[in-house]
Amino acid sequence: MKHAQHIDNLIIDIFKKSKDNFVSGQTLSDRIKITRTAVWKHIEGLRRKGYIITSIPSKGYKLVEIPDFLSVSEIKSAIKTKTIGSEIFIFDEVDSTNDIAMKMGAEGREEGLVVLSEGQLHGRGRLGRTWVSPKGVNLYVSILLRPEISPFYAPVLTMMAAMAAAGSILKTTGLKAKIKWPNDILVDRKKVSGILTEMNAEQEKINYIVIGIGINVNMKKEDFPEDLRMPAASLMECAGRRVDRAKLLCALLESMEEGYEELKSKGIISIVQKWRRLCGTLDKRIKVSLPGGIITGIAEDVTQEGGLVVRIGDGSTKVIFAGDVTLLEE
Ligand code: BTN
Repeated sequence: MKHAQHIDNLIIDIFKKSKDNFVSGQTLSDRIKITRTAVWKHIEGLRRKGYIITSIPSKGYKLVEIPDFLSVSEIKSAIKTKTIGSEIFIFDEVDSTNDIAMKMGAEGREEGLVVLSEGQLHGRGRLGRTWVSPKGVNLYVSILLRPEISPFYAPVLTMMAAMAAAGSILKTTGLKAKIKWPNDILVDRKKVSGILTEMNAEQEKINYIVIGIGINVNMKKEDFPEDLRMPAASLMECAGRRVDRAKLLCALLESMEEGYEELKSKGIISIVQKWRRLCGTLDKRIKVSLPGGIITGIAEDVTQEGGLVVRIGDGSTKVIFAGDVTLLEE
């Protein structure tokens, strides 16, 4: 006997493939090999879940709108990954998805596990900042990994995630997202996504690492706090239309898998080289705010440990590992 959720997924799949056309109850019944009554029951069930499906007796059914909630089964059936998303947990509201994934890492869970939440009460950003995390509009994702690399090279995983975030944004929305060192994703100079990587490590070995990715997807302009450190925006504002969170999430997880496979097969340097090509900070005049003051110079390169190499006024270079970068020119 087929699982009810599986049948729902098959129905949705047929609707998606038929684009804007009506699909008759008989077609659904023939293709899925269930009775017409069962088709009707599943359509009713999908409607209760928030799918808007119109029906015309002589034509059949048409899927008009997919509800914007994240569902484990929908994501699992849509992604083609081996590692990333091996287990997926979706919560309604948590303090921080990174906290949950770190706890699961401590419990010995396998790598690839993904924790998502519709909202976060205490979403965390880099350098102890808050990540604004209203419910139901954005993506808050934490991925647990157990890479066999030295903790020194952990920033390369953040680079990999930044590339996955920028790539999935481009794939889903067509927006040209750029990376600003170390881990901000910008569209039109506004921050749309950020990454917070946390780990448990010994001197030579990473026990587990959690890559937390926040993407502002369908958040409205007025919902951003006014006192943000740098201009922020959502993809909806940049694209001028709502963005399908589930589609974006699937693209993100698939991109992460691709990057992680590349890291394992080709090594750190391959990721760093790719990052160099995608980064919008290199070769630009920048200002870096450090705890000890401000330096200006040209962002020349990034090291394998994720440090930004800045050529300063006297011709010497400094390598920076944490700080806020502002571009002084485009
Ligand atoms: C930054 O740019 O400062 C990093 C922001 C990272 C936010 C994400 S949302 C999912 C995960 N859970 C958190 O509490 N933070 C990260």
